[in-house]
Amino acid sequence: MTDWAAFQYEIYGAGVFTGAVPRLPTDLTRLEEVARQRLGPGPFGYVAGSAGDGKTARANRRALDRYEIVPRMLRDVSARDLSVELFGRKTASPLALAPVGVQSIMHPDGEVAAAKAAAAQSIPFILSSASSTPMEQVAEAMRDAERWFQLYWPKDPEVTKSFLARAKNSGYRVLVVTLDTFMLAWRPTDLDTAYLPFLRGVGTANYFTDPAFEAGLGKPVHEDPRAAVMHFVQLFNDASKTWDNLPFLREHWDGPIVLKGIQHPDDARKAVDAGVDGVVVSNHGGRQVNGAIGAADALPGVVEAAGDRLEILFDSGIRTGDDIAKALALGARGVLLGRPYMYGLGIDGQPGVEHVIRCILAELELTLALAGHSSVGSLSPADLHRTS
Ligand code: FNR
Repeated sequence: MTDWAAFQYEIYGAGVFTGAVPRLPTDLTRLEEVARQRLGPGPFGYVAGSAGDGKTARANRRALDRYEIVPRMLRDVSARDLSVELFGRKTASPLALAPVGVQSIMHPDGEVAAAKAAAAQSIPFILSSASSTPMEQVAEAMRDAERWFQLYWPKDPEVTKSFLARAKNSGYRVLVVTLDTFMLAWRPTDLDTAYLPFLRGVGTANYFTDPAFEAGLGKPVHEDPRAAVMHFVQLFNDASKTWDNLPFLREHWDGPIVLKGIQHPDDARKAVDAGVDGVVVSNHGGRQVNGAIGAADALPGVVEAAGDRLEILFDSGIRTGDDIAKALALGARGVLLGRPYMYGLGIDGQPGVEHVIRCILAELELTLALAGHSSVGSLSPADLHRTS
């Protein structure tokens, strides 16, 4: 049994006894505005920005807003349990923190703060390949808490093998392979400020600490950081990979493999054929293909194509507890949270991330209970009304 909902009484109680109010908004849709006021334009723009004119990011919101929950009454929801099983392990809720690179641009403690927040709240943390902190250091800070590793699949197979071995040795259990970002999309917010952290050597920590990466350099990273950055750029972009390359990953990773960025039902079927364990229905928060389908509009097709053969996770546009409920009702088993926790990190470090996790899960639990659900398992598309 879980009690995320108790957070509201903790807040009200603190108000009564000490006069304190939360340091961050509890309506998480307000975080972006607070972050805009507190953070520099480069870092804020890097997180908030999308591809092109932002059409896909808007489509993500529109797709979720199109669905409305139809509450059911007189059901016993006194004992509630939000737990789900993700890739063979029970987790306290269907939420995980999405892989987000370069977190030190938001807060000096970067990924370590976010990972510790996830661990403290029993939420899986997915560490990006483009982390600003080496994966071993993040793992150490998390002790035995659940962590997954996200791979941007390098051009150099030796670096890929080395990343997978390092991730395994440092306790990352699930491999999330992001397929949608083998090149960076046209991102006007970053272009207009000429801001790309990687070119300043931020978000390259996993590469710059990797022996296979270093082997491809003429001089050690600290002696020629510019050459190291150029090598990173060259190795990061690989537009040549196809489904035929996937067995390589299976050969070098013996845990669950999840493909992130799937939007077409045929690609979900290909994922089944490739023998992977799951997919993340995601358009990278609208940061890659501008004009792409809203992620929640892509979800039902993927569920229909492969929902009984793959574990399906969802992200892109999740901002509130009811958004999570909708994604689960549409057939996702779990949901990844992206920008909101980055804003929490930027505004208040680890406590800011914990605040975001606690708010969204409290809101999820209350939404489910008030709509007649004591667990996520009873949700189905029949609990939703599609407005257009
Ligand atoms: C991302 N995302 C991402 N995904 C990934 O697989 N590896 C990465 O390194 C990153 N980096 C990254 C940086 C920033 C600043 C953002 C906002 C996003 C995508 C992320 O995992 C997730 O798909 C989106 O954040 C979901 O969209 P919303 O909910 O943030 O709109």
